[in-house]
Amino acid sequence: NADRDYATRLLAWFDVHGRHDLPWQHPRTPYRVWLSEIMLQQTQVRVVIPYFERFVAALPDVRALAAAPQDTVLALWSGLGYYARARNLHAAAKVCAELHDGDLPRDPDALRALPGIGRSTAGAILSQAWGDPFPILDGNVKRVLARRHAVEGWPAQPKVEKQLWAIAETLLPTTRLADYTQAQMDFGATLCTRHNPACLLCPVNVDCAAFAQGRVDELPTPRPT
Ligand code: ADE
Repeated sequence: NADRDYATRLLAWFDVHGRHDLPWQHPRTPYRVWLSEIMLQQTQVRVVIPYFERFVAALPDVRALAAAPQDTVLALWSGLGYYARARNLHAAAKVCAELHDGDLPRDPDALRALPGIGRSTAGAILSQAWGDPFPILDGNVKRVLARRHAVEGWPAQPKVEKQLWAIAETLLPTTRLADYTQAQMDFGATLCTRHNPACLLCPVNVDCAAFAQGRVDELPTPRPT
């Protein structure tokens, strides 16, 4: 079954070529995973790492963040940009302190109700923090799935995005969910890149419709101009 093999192949690739030494992986707590995912929403891994280390050293858990003055939070964020992320993070920590006993909620709906957490970020947190079976669909994953399934149309269109979410659900493995999420991020960032993807080295090229059709350069469909 090609859909089941996808995760197996991707995880085998991840074991050899993936990133296993990111600071939020050791220790992997819900708070650290959440903070890293918010920082990574618009910022690259190598930029995030020193900010992440400094942030968790100053504010090591949800309650510390909730109790911190806004100036402190913004000062720790200073340089990362997109400051709405920091304000949402702070507001979300206060909700967790008030409503969830100082913890990030494991319930998907409660998690998505927090400011700054959409469906993909919720999936990234649920899978990495608890190993729960929820997919992600960030820009990299949209590109990978649009190619594998030859999905036509600009991926930011609601109709196309809906198809991609459905595909992401069907490909979900039943084990190693945290690794599977990280594997997709690493795979999209290093092999299945926007330009010049490394199809000949790709562990999942056997089941890639775009590769089979010689359409890797055409998919995903670019934004209409
Ligand atoms: N972007 C969002 N989450 C990420 C992660 N865990 N690793 C790499 N890039 C990411």
